[in-house]
Amino acid sequence: MKVFIDNKEYNAKPDETIIELCDKIGVHIPRFCYHKHLSIVASCRMCLVDIEGVKYAQPACSTPLREDMRISTKSEKTKSAQKNSMEFLLINHPLDCPICDQGGECELQDVSLEHGDDHSKYMQFKRVVVDKDISPLISTDMTRCIHCSRCVRFGEEISNVKELGLLNRGEDMKIDVFIESGVTSELSGNMIDLCPVGALNNKPYRYKARTWDLKQICGISPHDCIGSNINYHTYNNKIVRAVPFENLAINQTWISDRDRFGYEGIYSNDRLDKTLIRENGKLVELDFDSVSSEVNNLIISNIKKHGRKEIGCLISGQSTSEELFLFQKIFKGLEISNIDHRTKERDFSYQKSFPIMPSLGCNIDDLHLYKNIILIGVNVKTEYPILSVRLNNATKGNSKIYSFNFSSLDENFPLYYKKVIDDNNIEPLLNTNDLGLDNGETLIILGPLISRLPNQSNILKKVHDFSLLIDAKVGFLAEFCNSTSGWLLGNLPHRNLGGSTSNIIGKNSYEMITEKLSTYIMYNLEPESDFFDKTLVEVALKSSECNIFFTSYITPMMEKYADIIIPITTFAETDGSYINIEGRYQVFQPVVQPSKDIHEGWSILNNISILNNFGDYTIDTIRNELEESLKKIDFSLSAIDIDSIDASNMVEDNVIDKFTRDTYDTDMIVRRSESLNKVSLSKHKPSIKNITNEPKNI
Ligand code: SF4
Ligand code: FES
Repeated sequence: MKVFIDNKEYNAKPDETIIELCDKIGVHIPRFCYHKHLSIVASCRMCLVDIEGVKYAQPACSTPLREDMRISTKSEKTKSAQKNSMEFLLINHPLDCPICDQGGECELQDVSLEHGDDHSKYMQFKRVVVDKDISPLISTDMTRCIHCSRCVRFGEEISNVKELGLLNRGEDMKIDVFIESGVTSELSGNMIDLCPVGALNNKPYRYKARTWDLKQICGISPHDCIGSNINYHTYNNKIVRAVPFENLAINQTWISDRDRFGYEGIYSNDRLDKTLIRENGKLVELDFDSVSSEVNNLIISNIKKHGRKEIGCLISGQSTSEELFLFQKIFKGLEISNIDHRTKERDFSYQKSFPIMPSLGCNIDDLHLYKNIILIGVNVKTEYPILSVRLNNATKGNSKIYSFNFSSLDENFPLYYKKVIDDNNIEPLLNTNDLGLDNGETLIILGPLISRLPNQSNILKKVHDFSLLIDAKVGFLAEFCNSTSGWLLGNLPHRNLGGSTSNIIGKNSYEMITEKLSTYIMYNLEPESDFFDKTLVEVALKSSECNIFFTSYITPMMEKYADIIIPITTFAETDGSYINIEGRYQVFQPVVQPSKDIHEGWSILNNISILNNFGDYTIDTIRNELEESLKKIDFSLSAIDIDSIDASNMVEDNVIDKFTRDTYDTDMIVRRSESLNKVSLSKHKPSIKNITNEPKNI
């Protein structure tokens, strides 16, 4: 379809709106209520444009293009229409830009500079709205609100949690929370980004910096296996906020609150910034130059003293691929086969026939193509909020979603079928007649809670048998952001780098802990929180002769039982990469520099590698070797389907009560985020802040 924008000819798609085409060709149209991922309301009238043959200027956001349409975005009619809209919007908006956090990135400020006037004709009182404290994460200045309703539509259409609404009419119109509840959605921070003015702001970031002083560096979320892209904003070498970086294949333009505020954990008081070594029963500082040789001596002397079978090497699936690569390189090079990253699991009968890595079974972007999506042991709303946006979208098409979970948890998308299950008794519930499955593709997604069960192999087998019966795919959601690399790069007792089977099958993490070895090497793991049972871990650490920790934080158990504790960088202070649950490999660079005595984990491992003649690496040479290994792996989705699963002999005791997965306790960084700790998911009540008298017009 041929159309003309500012006298230039363009091809438009049928039903494309004027604003969509203008965005595509780089012609700027001012807007407030329009957002490409929200429905169109055309309420602000800021995008009015002059269309040839039409008497009045029309909103570009809601007007579809027609053959031979001629639009002028710069004519006098357009300019005057936009100027008039701007004048109306500024009637009640306070002129408090110098004290507004949005200053410098405010759409209203920018548009008013371009399309506004230098004085106001309006001499009456301005409207004032009483603010409420609606969330520990969002600050409000509702007098600044221009009623674009983006925040309301986000709740209705994207997060599917309707918490903000437009109340009253005319002069009394305001955005407010419904009834007596605060904003509790796990995606609430996106409303801060959507608000085009300073009405909804980032509370923890408030008054910390001005936008023009910030540096921006893109990173990958370390808090779940989805791999959301995030822009970190830094001021004086400190992260002060995080906002989404658009990646339409993964997180679109959204991020979860966990991804937005989780970084605060980097600045926790229990951050370790010196190497500590035990001397005469006390932990004392060790100079960094001696760290690698001390650690290596400890490892080698313990191998000599107790034998390789007595060494247990455990690493977190939250480590970068580079760290996971070097970790297995060193310890497999030393012929130690007790290596594992699956520290929350306790039943490993399934491992021999398990695919090369846990995979979602499809691309995140393709979830909506499945007719039936069966969720087992996962509460997507709280555990993978970004995925809940996709599932909500899928239900608007042809998908039906089924949920089997261990307790009755709500989702933020419509469920066609919901059942509370017993971890011992999953089989009768997977009954096709009961489910009323639609003809078409079916995807079964298993959550990480399943992997923590003592009978997970049996459950996997039952689910696999059921999937064959209904011709479904089986997908997984992993425990950590890089559990996939843990598998692919051979941090396993039974497989090597690239998935080949080990000659000697070592002990898995459960055996390492329960069989009490003489030496434990724990990388990026907290004994108190990152294992299936902290009491058993404590018993193991207490009885061992040597415990070596590589960690960003010091915990009470480390203080008590460590022989040496080496501080390592967090995701924000190192080069690294993660492989998400689709198998997507994403690299990132340091966002900030760590303090002087904290070094990149991979560089400390590299020093140990050099001492053992396993190679001297740079970040690039690690990546080259790692990428070469990944190239040899068949990542096609059929190759990572489950073929068969071995059942378990484990006693099927009912332990589900012990296993919960708290949204803000998923990893060591998130659990230290001050703002997220303040979020009480169900209890936050709105309160009126700092105002004692009724508001008056000013
Ligand atoms: S609070 Fe912000 S996003 Fe919500 S209606 Fe007002 S201006 Fe729009
Ligand atoms: S952006 Fe078109 S009317 Fe608001």
